[in-house]
Amino acid sequence: MRIGTLGNGLMAEALALQWVKAGHDVMVGGRDPGRSGEVARRVGAAAGTLEEAAAYGEVVLLAVPAEVAVTVAGVVPAGKTLIDCTNALDRRDFTLAQPATAEAISRAVPEVQVVKAFNLAADAVWRNPPAGLGVPICADGGMEQVAQLVRDLGCTPVPAGGLRRARLLEATAALAIGIWVSGGDVREMFPPLAAAFGTVLPGQS
Ligand SMILES: NC(=O)c1ccc[n+]([C@@H]2O[C@H](COP(=O)([O-])OP(=O)(O)OC[C@H]3O[C@@H](n4cnc5c(N)ncnc54)[C@H](OP(=O)(O)O)[C@@H]3O)[C@@H](O)[C@H]2O)c1
Repeated sequence: MRIGTLGNGLMAEALALQWVKAGHDVMVGGRDPGRSGEVARRVGAAAGTLEEAAAYGEVVLLAVPAEVAVTVAGVVPAGKTLIDCTNALDRRDFTLAQPATAEAISRAVPEVQVVKAFNLAADAVWRNPPAGLGVPICADGGMEQVAQLVRDLGCTPVPAGGLRRARLLEATAALAIGIWVSGGDVREMFPPLAAAFGTVLPGQS
């Protein structure tokens, strides 16, 4: 697959590295040719402007601050799949500074298939993805393309509904990050599947 990144920061580098390793052709796009060139060299990708990366990718990763996401997404041509990994996190209290970013992007570029994914874990996780890690994806289309990119990381795609549910994924990220930074472990919140459905499997109590 040809993949372009909009942004040459931590998330773009971590995911680009994994996709290059998996055999994809990646172009790192940025507004500063020096920085995008440097990141591209490190991961083994090509470098370009934001416009060039958007035109290059069949799938385009949007990895910029959420407050500029709608504007930056404007460079993506019709017909592409755009992965939105942004989190509009208000770091003062770990709430959302702006609700429903993915939906706002989709309204701004209606001919682009917007997919929310990869926003729930830190760049350090994507640099070294734990085998089988579940990666929730919200999309109205383009799900299979992005699910493949999740599997290419050795992770497990978790279809989580249409793009309207992306706002829940954004809120989930804010909640989880708030718990992590206060020293909690979000994994403790969720029961095993059997318990969730009110049955106890043999050997469990
Ligand atoms: N890091 C994480 O652990 C993590 C995890 C999940 C989701 N996210 C989300 O992913 C997104 C990217 O995060 P990151 O950690 O990769 O950030 P980052 O390292 O700060 O990189 C941000 C990138 O956005 C570019 N950028 C900033 N303002 C721009 C503008 N006005 N126009 C065009 N490009 C602009 C920067 O370009 P320059 O280099 O030219 O400044 C840089 O390439 C954020 O929305 C974040 O919430 C991050």
